[in-house]
Amino acid sequence: MKKTIAAFLGLCCTVSVYAQNTGKLNVPAKPEQVISRHIYGHFAEHLGRSIYGGFYVGEDNTAIPNTNGVRNDVVDALKKLKIPNLRWPGGCFADTYHWKDGIGPKSERPTMVNTWWGGVTENNSFGTHDFLNMCELLDTEPYLAGNMGSGAVQELADWVQYVNFGGESPMSKLRQKNGREKPWAVKFWGIGNEAWGCGGNMTAEYYANEYRKYATFVSDWTNTGNLFRIASGANSADYNWTEVLMKNVPKNLIEGVALHHYSVIEWDKKGPSTTFSEQQYFTTMKRALFMEELIQKHSAIMDKYDPEKKIALVVDEWGGWYEVEPGTNPGFLYQQNTMRDAMIAGATLNIFNNHSDRVRMANLAQAINVLQSVILTEGDKMLLTPTYHVMEMYNVHQDAAWLPLTVKTEDYTLGSEKLPAVSGSASKDKNGLTHVSLVNIDANKAQEITIDIDGAKYKNVSGRILSSKKVQDFNSFDSPNSITPKAFKDAKLKGDKLTVKLPAFSVVVLELK
Ligand code: AHR
Repeated sequence: MKKTIAAFLGLCCTVSVYAQNTGKLNVPAKPEQVISRHIYGHFAEHLGRSIYGGFYVGEDNTAIPNTNGVRNDVVDALKKLKIPNLRWPGGCFADTYHWKDGIGPKSERPTMVNTWWGGVTENNSFGTHDFLNMCELLDTEPYLAGNMGSGAVQELADWVQYVNFGGESPMSKLRQKNGREKPWAVKFWGIGNEAWGCGGNMTAEYYANEYRKYATFVSDWTNTGNLFRIASGANSADYNWTEVLMKNVPKNLIEGVALHHYSVIEWDKKGPSTTFSEQQYFTTMKRALFMEELIQKHSAIMDKYDPEKKIALVVDEWGGWYEVEPGTNPGFLYQQNTMRDAMIAGATLNIFNNHSDRVRMANLAQAINVLQSVILTEGDKMLLTPTYHVMEMYNVHQDAAWLPLTVKTEDYTLGSEKLPAVSGSASKDKNGLTHVSLVNIDANKAQEITIDIDGAKYKNVSGRILSSKKVQDFNSFDSPNSITPKAFKDAKLKGDKLTVKLPAFSVVVLELK
C-alpha cells in the first residue's frame, strides 16, 4: 500500500500508507429520486466583467468571434458543460434594474449607474432580448430575477407578460415591435433578491407579505401551469427567514425558496484567491462543508410546512469568495480559481446530489469573471477554471436517479480542528450507467476508500480525476491547460467491492458498468 503525503506547499513528498475509509453504495432495482439537472445552474449578473467582456462583446466587435454579440468561445464551453439554467440580471443589481430600459433600439436605451458594483455606467446594451436569445443559443433555461426592491408590482407583471404571452396584449405587441414574434416562455422567476439586505433590508414578515402580493400578479401567461416562482431566501443560517416564509406564504403562490451561502473566511478578511495558507484553505473548506448543516436545518423547517416536498430549496448563490485580484476594481469581484475551488465545487455538488429530494435547483456564483467562475476572459482569450472541470465531470449526474452512497471517512486535521476528508455521491443515468463522484479535501493525505456495493453487479470501472501538485495551482492565460481532467486508473472492482485511491485534494468521477 502506498500513501502520498504532499506537503501543503508542494515542497516535498513522502511515500507511505493511504488513510483508510469505507463506504456503502446501495443500488435499488428502481431508484426513484432524481437529481434535477437544475442543481447545476449558473449565474450571470451585471457585475464587473461578467456580462460586458465575459458573455457579451457587442454585435460590432470584429476582433472576438461572436453571434449577435455573444462570444462563440463562451457558448461552446458552456454548451459542453450542459448548463441547465442561467440566472440574470442579478444579484443585488436585479433590485435596481428596470427591464424596460433594456429593450428597443440600443441607441435609444437610457443609461443608469450600477450603484452596487463599481459605480460604472450601465448602457443597457445587453437587455431582455439579448439575454433570452443568448439562453436559446446556450440551450439553457433562463431564470429571471425580478425587481421587488426598487420596482413595482406592475413592472414585474408587465415583464412576465412581455416575455411569456403569445396572445394579443400591450406587452406582447411591444415585444413583437421589438423584433420577437414568439414568446420565450420563461419558467423560473425570482421575486426579489436578498430582500434581507441589498434587496431592501426587509424583515422576513414584511417580505412575506410583499411576496404574496407580487406572486399573485406574476401570472402564468403561458397557460401551461409551468411558472416557477422563487422567493428570496435566507442568508446562510438565518433559519427564522425560512420559517416565516414557509408559515406565511400560501403554497399555491410559491414553488421555490432560495438560500444564499458563500464560502468566505471572514467578510472583512477574505484572504487571497491564490496565495492562501493551509489555515485559510481549511477555513474555506469548513465554510463550504457547512452547506450540509444549512440544508439539513432549512429542509427540516420546510418539512414541517411542506411534508410532501412540493416546494424546492433553491441555493441560487453559492461558491468561494476571496479578495479581488491585485490591481483590479474592488467592485468587480474578479478572482482567480484554484484547486481549492475545485474542492468547494466537488464537495458542495455531492451535498446537493445527496439532498436532491429538497434541493432541486442551485446557481454557482458566478459564471464568468466574477467570484467562483467556470470561465475567465481577458480580451480575446478565454480559459476554463478547475471549477469548470468539476462541473463538467459531474454533469453525468444531471437528471440521473440518485443512489444512496454513505461514506465513513477519515478526518482532515489541522491543529486541533478536523473536517471529514472524503465525500461522495452517486447516480444511475438513463442508459443504465452508474456514476460515483468522490472528493478528498485533505490538503496533505491521500485517502483510500473501499465501497461495498449492494444491489448490482458491475464488471467494469473507469474514470477521470482532477488533481494538481499544489492546492494553490490554477489555470492562467499563459498556461490555460495546466489543470484538466485526466484518465484515472486507481479504481479497482473485485466482486462487490470497489477500492479507490484518492490523492490529496482531488476529485474523481467513476463510471461503473
Ligand atoms: O454574487 C455577488 C452578490 O452576492 C450578489 O449580487 C448578491 O446577491 C450577493 O450578496
